[in-house]
Amino acid sequence: MDKKLRIGIIGTGGIAGAHINCYKQMADVEIVGGADIIPGKAREYLDRNGFENAEDFESADELLKLGLDAVSVCTYNSTHAECAVKALEAGCHVLLEKPMCLTIRQAIDIVRAEQKSGKSVSIGFQPRYGKNFQKVKEIISSGALGEVYYVQTGGGRRRGMPGGTFISKEKAGVGALADIGCYALDFAMNSIGYPKPLTVSAVAYNHFGTSPKYNAGNYDKFEVDDFSSAFVRLESGITLDFRMSWAMHMDTTGDFLFLGKEAGLKVKQPHYELWGGAWDGAVGQITLYHDMLGQPTATPIPLINDEKSNLFFNKVRAFVDAVLTGGPAPIPTSQIIYNQAIIDGIIRSSQSGKEVDVTFTI
Ligand SMILES: NC(=O)c1ccc[n+]([C@@H]2O[C@H](COP(=O)([O-])OP(=O)(O)OC[C@H]3O[C@@H](n4cnc5c(N)ncnc54)[C@H](O)[C@@H]3O)[C@@H](O)[C@H]2O)c1
Repeated sequence: MDKKLRIGIIGTGGIAGAHINCYKQMADVEIVGGADIIPGKAREYLDRNGFENAEDFESADELLKLGLDAVSVCTYNSTHAECAVKALEAGCHVLLEKPMCLTIRQAIDIVRAEQKSGKSVSIGFQPRYGKNFQKVKEIISSGALGEVYYVQTGGGRRRGMPGGTFISKEKAGVGALADIGCYALDFAMNSIGYPKPLTVSAVAYNHFGTSPKYNAGNYDKFEVDDFSSAFVRLESGITLDFRMSWAMHMDTTGDFLFLGKEAGLKVKQPHYELWGGAWDGAVGQITLYHDMLGQPTATPIPLINDEKSNLFFNKVRAFVDAVLTGGPAPIPTSQIIYNQAIIDGIIRSSQSGKEVDVTFTI
């Protein structure tokens, strides 16, 4: 191996620990530096992870002067777009944490910067590497369901409200609908080939987050949604029924359902504790509903034992491989911009109380 990939980390909070832990295991990668706007935080992070010789900065701009090949953007949601665009302008490939950003405007800015730079952006949806997630996509892509016309996605938590930057309007921007909702959207949309979204009608609530009874420690700081539901019209007459929760008086908002003209597929949640709408790639029973010799029949699909695979490592490795080989982004903006268009639509529709158009041009 002649040259190691020079990597920087932008935003050195919680999830940056998982990124550096993956990079550490790769002989073809060098961690050159990190940046965080909180003074001292990047230094402490680099030292804690054994990178005493890597450089620390208090801004992404300074870090990007090092001449890096690629960066992981691990900042909170509201600064994803500005950091990704700066990194692209500095000639870096970008592994951008989920959700892609907050608004469709920001997503378009990222895509334009990506196109201009000739570098690539991959979005951090590690459940894509789950074998059972891949099985669901394979079943649907095989045509076993016929033409798919309705999809239900969501799941959510009965009680699982985070704190910290996740409940700040300024930092996270939105709550459950993007934090774990983006995973549920990616699972559903990726399984059916990411059709273009057309309109969104949505509602969002924060009954639990702002309640002293249910959120004693954080109710006065809670500025985002804790529950939302949306009706999304996709191209080709497909409807997407979305629900997402950090807190509710229910164990689940429902299973994942894919209805096709020839068969239906149900994917159950693996468990009801803190399950974030697909974030960990785990699924419960998968069942195919179809007619056999004229009789309605339900066929269980055997689950693949996926416990030993490290989805997070696989996502970071796939990004590194794409950069090294000049291959396409493993989880490209060309798909995830539709995920972002839906999130943007949920935000706008829940604020306006009306159905909104979510089509856009780059
Ligand atoms: N893929 C996953 O499994 C997963 C899990 C958790 C979080 N996330 C995502 O990762 C992101 C970060 O989450 P977290 O838990 O690490 O949050 P965090 O608040 O712990 O860390 C974010 C850090 O980014 C820094 N930051 C913000 N803007 C910056 C900027 N412009 N330049 C440099 N640093 C900046 C903050 O000071 C903070 O230290 C979120 O978007 C979240 O959705 C992904």
